[in-house]
Amino acid sequence: MKFFLDTANVDEIRQALDWGLCDGVTTNPSLIAKEGRDMKEAVLEICDLVGPERPVSAEVVATDYEGILKEAYERAAWAENIVVKIPLIAEGIKAMNKVTSEGIRVNATLIFSLPQALLAAKAGASYLSPFVGRHDDVGWDGMELVEQTATMLDAYDYFDAEIIVASVRGAWHVVQGCMMGAHIATVPFGTLGKLFNHPLTDQGLDKFLADYAKLQEELKG
Ligand code: E4P
Repeated sequence: MKFFLDTANVDEIRQALDWGLCDGVTTNPSLIAKEGRDMKEAVLEICDLVGPERPVSAEVVATDYEGILKEAYERAAWAENIVVKIPLIAEGIKAMNKVTSEGIRVNATLIFSLPQALLAAKAGASYLSPFVGRHDDVGWDGMELVEQTATMLDAYDYFDAEIIVASVRGAWHVVQGCMMGAHIATVPFGTLGKLFNHPLTDQGLDKFLADYAKLQEELKG
């Protein structure tokens, strides 16, 4: 399973790269706004930081077909690792069909149902992003949608899409996504850190080190 970082913060990305835990980055307009930066400037810095082999999602903010197309072409030209994020609305599907046929990679975002995931796959999206946390927030089961999407992709092997578990709220979403065969989890920085923390690891390590230090004292004496 690949880990993308769901952030527009370059310090977080730098740290995740240092840990070897960043296979790509997803941004969205809210994450860009949180950094208070111009989208193009922030995304270009991220692309440069992660290198050309790691995909970086940059989202369109237009909602009409012509506007989405215009922004998709602009963003795709920013850097070679850009993936254009397009929302799952009718105009978005229409734009996805057009730009994917021209070789632009698309991350279909704001997916909340299997029909939406199916339409995005049919429109040639490279990535399908079911928003599991927001799904759970309103009392549905976000992971059920991931499971259904995985089943759909297995059934039709001519779809060339990967599932991104998005809107991750904690390690549990990553674990479940992994068990369901999702290809990628895009995780907030705070969740990434929690993936390798465990109190029993800390307790175990303390004990190993204490026992070994005691042995050194005994050997000296
Ligand atoms: C995914 O690509 C989105 O940027 C993201 O996962 C949204 O998550 P949120 O529901 O925490 O805003």
